[in-house]
Amino acid sequence: MIKFLDLYKINDRFRDAFQAAFSKSLDDAHFILGTNVTTFENEFADYCGTTYCVGTANGLDALMLILKGYIQLGKLKKGDKVIVPANTFIATILSVLHAELVPVLVEPNPDTYNIAVDTDKELFREAKAIIMVHLYGQLADVEVFHKIAQDFNLLLIEDAAQAHGATSNLNNRKAGNLSDAAAFSFYPTKNLGALGDGGGVTTNDSELVDVIKLLRNYGSKEKYTNKMIGFNSRLDDLQAAFLSLKLKTLDSDNDQRRKIAKAYLTGIKNSKLKLPFYDGTKNHVFYAFVIEVDDRSNFIEFLNKHQIQWLIHYPIPPHQQEALKDFSHIKLPLTEKIHKRIISLPMSPVMTEQDIQTVIDVLNTY
Ligand SMILES: Cc1ncc(COP(=O)(O)O)c(C=O)c1O
Repeated sequence: MIKFLDLYKINDRFRDAFQAAFSKSLDDAHFILGTNVTTFENEFADYCGTTYCVGTANGLDALMLILKGYIQLGKLKKGDKVIVPANTFIATILSVLHAELVPVLVEPNPDTYNIAVDTDKELFREAKAIIMVHLYGQLADVEVFHKIAQDFNLLLIEDAAQAHGATSNLNNRKAGNLSDAAAFSFYPTKNLGALGDGGGVTTNDSELVDVIKLLRNYGSKEKYTNKMIGFNSRLDDLQAAFLSLKLKTLDSDNDQRRKIAKAYLTGIKNSKLKLPFYDGTKNHVFYAFVIEVDDRSNFIEFLNKHQIQWLIHYPIPPHQQEALKDFSHIKLPLTEKIHKRIISLPMSPVMTEQDIQTVIDVLNTY
């Protein structure tokens, strides 16, 4: 069986260090917003090249707290329109709804799957913010969106939940430092994944940081003094310790993911499979290697028969989910088509050469 993502093997590399961190945490007995959180926040900000990182409970909250933070600062107000990709994980859109803002769903570029740039300019005129999702680990069209954000006076936000370490070809800046504020998820399957939930906001905006630090902690800086209607969304201290340990191998893990992707892209020669666009640079960290196929159910049967695990990122587009029935009347043909055709191949930095070759050989016989 070739695993889709071997979480056991990924984390087993850190077993001794994790156990030492756990033991130290037990000894220190400072479980909430302890030194591990501050240390990781500093390390991750340094890694991304931003001045600040604020740990949160998960990636959805990181996005939501950015939006709520801008509302507190008067830069957004209830009912403002926020441009989001239609082709994304539902969390991007939920964050906008939870902040009582209005998501405007935009179709993707069919080659990169990221939000298309050639969108009706009227949408930008009406909106107040854009959330770019670096989907599957590939940077969105950052330069174009910078220009759009400038021209239309929009806040630019990254959903970098799938793109830890993705680096722009133009200015060598990393995901997290390509917008006004960025949200990360440290969900266990992510390129930088904790052993539970986790998230974070990176930004160079000190005002936003101050507000998010309050919002994540009951609106409180001083214990039992509440300045605003906050949440409980703190990055867990033990998870922060684990993340600091795993951050050390993020770059080499991403290199390994790109190596696997390059092997798939050169090795898989099958006209029935559409392989993903990749320009060969560090602007992609291959959170997922997503291909397209006409008859997906047949292909799934084939993969199952050959014991190759797969996933679909994602089987139902957000606007067709029961939860978002208010959006179900919107026609998004590209997004709908992509969701019917895509499937993700095994991609984990601990795959062996033999696993990679087996996937290639098997797919060439489909
Ligand atoms: C694109 C995207 N945004 C947001 C999130 C939300 O992150 P979390 O699951 O940590 O809340 C995810 C997580 O899967 C994601 O893939």
